[in-house]
Amino acid sequence: MAVSWYALAVLATTALGASIAPTKDQFLEGSMCGRVWITIHSPAIQRTLAPNLLDAIELNWDFNGCSTIPKQIGLFSNRPLSWNNALETYPLNSVEGYIITNTSLGEGALPGGWLTGPGRKGPHCLWPWVAAGDLQILAYNCLKIQPTWMEDNGDKINRLRIGELAIAGTHNAGAWKFNTEVSTASRDSFVLCQDRSIWAQLVHGIRYFDFRVAYYEFYQNEDDRYWLNHNLIRVRPLVPLLKEIRTFLDNTREVVFLDAHHFPIGFYDTDGRPIRQVHEGLIELVQRELGPHMANAVNFATEPGSRGPTLKTLLDADKRLLFSYVDNTIVRENNFLWPNLPHLWANTNCPTELFQYLDQAITVSPQPTALSPLYSAMAQTTPTVLDILFLRGSLRANADDVNRNVTSRLVTRWRQYANIVSSDFFLGNDVIDVSIALNIERGSSRL
Ligand SMILES: *[C@@H]1O[C@H](CO)[C@@H](O)[C@H](O)[C@H]1NC(C)=O
Ligand SMILES: *[C@@H]1O[C@H](CO)[C@@H](O)[C@H](O)[C@H]1NC(C)=O
Repeated sequence: MAVSWYALAVLATTALGASIAPTKDQFLEGSMCGRVWITIHSPAIQRTLAPNLLDAIELNWDFNGCSTIPKQIGLFSNRPLSWNNALETYPLNSVEGYIITNTSLGEGALPGGWLTGPGRKGPHCLWPWVAAGDLQILAYNCLKIQPTWMEDNGDKINRLRIGELAIAGTHNAGAWKFNTEVSTASRDSFVLCQDRSIWAQLVHGIRYFDFRVAYYEFYQNEDDRYWLNHNLIRVRPLVPLLKEIRTFLDNTREVVFLDAHHFPIGFYDTDGRPIRQVHEGLIELVQRELGPHMANAVNFATEPGSRGPTLKTLLDADKRLLFSYVDNTIVRENNFLWPNLPHLWANTNCPTELFQYLDQAITVSPQPTALSPLYSAMAQTTPTVLDILFLRGSLRANADDVNRNVTSRLVTRWRQYANIVSSDFFLGNDVIDVSIALNIERGSSRL
């Protein structure tokens, strides 16, 4: 992480021979060298005399490549103007690291008018801010939403092809809260991968959703039969989630990637043949809810092994929803479906193996024959059957074991090549803001 964002902005400016006005982001985040940022601790913290601490705020720093390291870091409830306003401060004595505070984010209400519907453009801060410095504040940042990051940075990124973008995604995006029978703690531990609604995920800046769709014939109404699952467990009905995506697309100029990646129940007969009418039912639902925004693959796809259309092409046509479908047999019969989007999935419960696998797989993706211009690095470990049986750990703890490394990998080894990076409990990493910065960096080398 030798190069700071600040240095990058200066480099870009010099290379262009012109000055770029600071974007709104730079006012919410700034640094002379290095970076600080806020994440949210995904596991609950057990306490002896108090209730469990949920959503603890973490303060993160990375001053690699800087000539000096600031002496302290602190949490603030407003823009950090002076240390007198800090809620808590901690001494800094390493180049990079993090502190898990004992302060909870609380509700995490979406700011900028985005709570339940469209709000004001641009990034907005939730309440926590972080700053590092000596007597002076040298680096600061806040926990943000990025509801319109593609539009905000359009002049810098619109020439990029979709396969050249860095995109924050969520693994099992629908598995965020049960809408069925009362859930149990042990089941939650291995089923829920997210804790923010689809709407909140979009508003935070997630643009790729990995959906696992199941079909339950016993519901009378056709609409009620399609659910988002985690494997065999029904988590939420699909249609309301599609409506949240629709509201978002109707009110922004953002591009969203939807991926029906697994059909755990009801889509195949026992011989493995697709049940046509179930697939068609799903496709009709998606068309009904999102149709006006859908970019038909037949109109926009590029050759195998290529990186797909540019953002500009999609925006000019005002087609901003790309629907990928895991089964290429069905894709061939439907002009608007995008082909199977490869998942780089390590299928391991060991973080070291996960990163070894992804480091390698990302550099060789996309494959020269890949039909999809996109691919998704699945940046989470997978519990084994035994882990689940013996309740060893939880998806929250697993996410915590890898999320900080996902952020640092994206800044270093994956910096040039990463496309979609899908994670669990995405507030535990900084993939959204880092991806936005990488897109600006990639876009500026394209001018
Ligand atoms: C949080 O509280 C625990 C228990 O009271 C304490 O051991 C720990 O040092 C505290 N953490 C911070 C960052 O202050
Ligand atoms: C994650 O990052 C930390 C700090 O840089 C490092 O010590 C650890 O080995 C990394 N873990 C993996 C699995 O790469």
